[in-house]
Amino acid sequence: MEGRIGFIVFVCLMGLTCANPVKFIDCGSSSGKVTMVDIDPCTTQPCQLHKGQSYSVNVTFSSGVESKTSTAVVHGIIAGVPIPFAIPVGDGCKSGIQCPIQKQQAYHYETTLPVKSEYPAIKLVVEWELRDDENKDLFCIRFPVQIV
Ligand SMILES: *[C@@H]1O[C@H](CO)[C@@H](O)[C@H](O)[C@H]1NC(C)=O
Repeated sequence: MEGRIGFIVFVCLMGLTCANPVKFIDCGSSSGKVTMVDIDPCTTQPCQLHKGQSYSVNVTFSSGVESKTSTAVVHGIIAGVPIPFAIPVGDGCKSGIQCPIQKQQAYHYETTLPVKSEYPAIKLVVEWELRDDENKDLFCIRFPVQIV
């Protein structure tokens, strides 16, 4: 295990693309189940997000429902207060998911998270939801980040 982690760190230090599973909590994925959250590049926990950089986000989940649509809703929770966060593409069906979504099928939700240079350098919790036709969460995840 340690050898494997050492190898991953080594590969990451070489500047090669490496996705890292991010520790997350589930905040009520009533229409699905999340198996993995990857942010790239992210070599620390919590992820350090550098101003002016873009990050790729890859959420692997399985759906428990059928849905024609999927809509991403992102909030930054700062001191307990959720603040809406605009992402470039809000449509999950244009973010690596082939719609309509089928029941009991696994999907990768893939999108980018741009970190604007005007964001404050703070720690916050990102809450990322993907909602189905009925506005229920295909997934709802929370993970801490640090903007630097
Ligand atoms: C997302 O993660 C899955 C599972 O690890 C992987 O197969 C897929 O290639 C990833 N997508 C991107 C865009 O990295």
